[in-house]
Amino acid sequence: MKGIILAGGKATRLYPITKGVCKQLLPIYDKPMIYYPLSVLMLAGIKDILIISTADAIPQFQSLFADGSDFGIKVSYSVQEKPRGIAEAFIIGESFIAGENVALILGDNIFFGSGLAGELKKAMAQKEGACVFGYYVNDPQRYGVINFDENHNVLSIQEKPKVHKSHWAVTGLYFYDRKVVRIAKEILPSKRGELEITDVNNVYLKNNKLKVRLLGQGYAWLDTGTYDSLIDASMFIKTIEDRQGLKIGCIEEAAYRKGYISKDKLLVLANAVKTSYGNYLKKILEEEKYAV
Ligand code: TTP
Repeated sequence: MKGIILAGGKATRLYPITKGVCKQLLPIYDKPMIYYPLSVLMLAGIKDILIISTADAIPQFQSLFADGSDFGIKVSYSVQEKPRGIAEAFIIGESFIAGENVALILGDNIFFGSGLAGELKKAMAQKEGACVFGYYVNDPQRYGVINFDENHNVLSIQEKPKVHKSHWAVTGLYFYDRKVVRIAKEILPSKRGELEITDVNNVYLKNNKLKVRLLGQGYAWLDTGTYDSLIDASMFIKTIEDRQGLKIGCIEEAAYRKGYISKDKLLVLANAVKTSYGNYLKKILEEEKYAV
């Protein structure tokens, strides 16, 4: 399975911060925002990853990840010239996807929760159709809202409804079969001129091929698109990391724990970062030495 991180957009809600800097490079506490969605794909076991962003930002992502080999993965890059919609990712990524199934995650979405790896595994095991993740929110009218039956077959997706049929919002993490490229090419731009991911999902829905997996109590799904949500996300990550002494979204740790890189490589990565982040990576190796 291939993985795409969509990390372009204009991020106008964060102006002036994002007038000169790509949103997904901004810090969420102790690491760049894009580390969080990248670590989710790595946790899912996806090692072949395409980052799509603006022409200005691609070189900066390249300085973070290069070809991905430091983390035992393969990272490639493509430019989205204009934010023409989330579904354009599949058109830009067509040759990268190369007829395989594909996961798409938005570069500004943060997921956290102890059962996440299992949920990702189940989504990946679904070979046909599409799978979206639903998150229970207090304010469904701000999101795409999913209504579904007891077998988790989706019955409808309402876009920012005034009257909502459920509290389950569609998150920025999606799994599709190979048909997604053709579907993305067939849909038309919406009134706001974008290829909407909801329109792609609605094609799967019409064919009874859209499933939802639910992230209920015990999970965090944070988005980082406004001043407040940006600082809230940082505070949330800091609180959990301080309390547990464990990091969230640490791609070096994910690479090591998934067996993508060796102990020696982790030590090299640790030594290259002379901060508490580097010390944390060293601690992983130290604690293993004394583990019973
Ligand atoms: P949005 O929140 O819709 O857009 P944005 O982040 O550019 O923000 P704003 O509303 O403040 O202008 O996008 C969600 C994510 O998807 C975000 O990470 C940007 C990314 N994206 C693209 O990379 N290309 C696109 O064409 C669109 C629509 C979004």
